[in-house]
Amino acid sequence: MRLLEEKLDDIASGHEVSLERRDLVDALESGPGVEGPLFRAASAVLERTSGPGVYLRGIVEVSNACQKNCFYCGLRRDNPGVARYTMNPQEVMEALAHGWRAGLRSFLLQSGELLGDDYIDEVCAILSECRSRWGDSVRMVLSMGELPPDVLDRLRDAGGGRYLLRIETSDRELYGRIHPRDGIHRWSARDACLRHLRSTGWQTGSGVLVGFPWQTASELAGDLEYLVDLDIDMCGMGPWIEHQGTPLNEVREQAPPRARRVTLTLRMIALLRILMPEINISATTALQTLDPRGLEKGLEAGANVFMPNLTPLKYRVNYNLYEGKTVVVDDLESMIREGKRRCESVRRLLLPDDPGDPLHYGRRRAAEGGKPGGAPPGDRIGGQG
Ligand code: 5AD
Ligand code: SF4
Repeated sequence: MRLLEEKLDDIASGHEVSLERRDLVDALESGPGVEGPLFRAASAVLERTSGPGVYLRGIVEVSNACQKNCFYCGLRRDNPGVARYTMNPQEVMEALAHGWRAGLRSFLLQSGELLGDDYIDEVCAILSECRSRWGDSVRMVLSMGELPPDVLDRLRDAGGGRYLLRIETSDRELYGRIHPRDGIHRWSARDACLRHLRSTGWQTGSGVLVGFPWQTASELAGDLEYLVDLDIDMCGMGPWIEHQGTPLNEVREQAPPRARRVTLTLRMIALLRILMPEINISATTALQTLDPRGLEKGLEAGANVFMPNLTPLKYRVNYNLYEGKTVVVDDLESMIREGKRRCESVRRLLLPDDPGDPLHYGRRRAAEGGKPGGAPPGDRIGGQG
């Protein structure tokens, strides 16, 4: 333990120190005393590399339909209690334009996993429209589940630049316990999809669920190592939250208490920040749902992104991944003002109109001989770079 605290203090003072698997497990399992040194080290690393900036992604939850049946998720196919919707392209553009007018320059289109050609065509049309309206100034992030390589390539060429796909857990066996074993929920397919994204120009994001039944500190440490190995550009990690319409809810007493899930999430954020100083890490909605100070705590642990929700309220109430998902009714301008104040309260600076390309992506693209900036790779394919 002493050894870990010494390492963390050294990291905070600017020394190069590597954290081994044992350190990661220690940092997750130790008593509350570890948090001071851990969060100080993570903040120092962030400050030295990326600075105090905090970025916004406006999220539009385009559809809550999903072909999958994950045991933890309220939107799973077999949950009959969900009023399913899919926004039409015009509604999506209106939500995006609203965010654009408020100054946002980066948007996340999220949905369940839908393989239909019509849906993919619609998303491509939305991406093209964004590109023709806003050119290189906008960054479009997609989070639409595991899609075949040719579909991902089409989405990229239409203007998608960033893709988020959580691995959920890096442990294959544990993955098998929280998903049906039916051939469409395969860890290896998910991993392959991430590696395809990573090698085809996408700014690639992943992440894990933290604190669900059966998960151990050693598996969480393995998750961090997996994310490092994948060499992601961005990450979203959040606590698991119960949902009545899901099988995992039946074994909820085997999960850590909610406060512990928050603690574990914050420690995971801090450790990942130390391991990957130049990526973007978000303070997730799930974290903010379990803790009213989740945003501030996430930032103090090393997060540098959060996501105001732009989904029209009539749809938003039906995007219930888990119970108690916050439905903020504030208008966007006051939300941004409030966000600025909350960032400043933890000595951070909200940059609402900065698209927030992670240094990590610029560096690896430059090393790969691609365009170093964060402009959509479709641009490069179009022959300009
Ligand atoms: N609690 C917290 N996060 C969840 N997600 C799905 N269900 C839950 C839940 N019950 C997350 C998954 C998924 C993302 C879209 O939402 O990590 O990747
Ligand atoms: Fe569908 Fe994603 Fe929910 Fe799984 S976690 S059921 S893929 S929306």
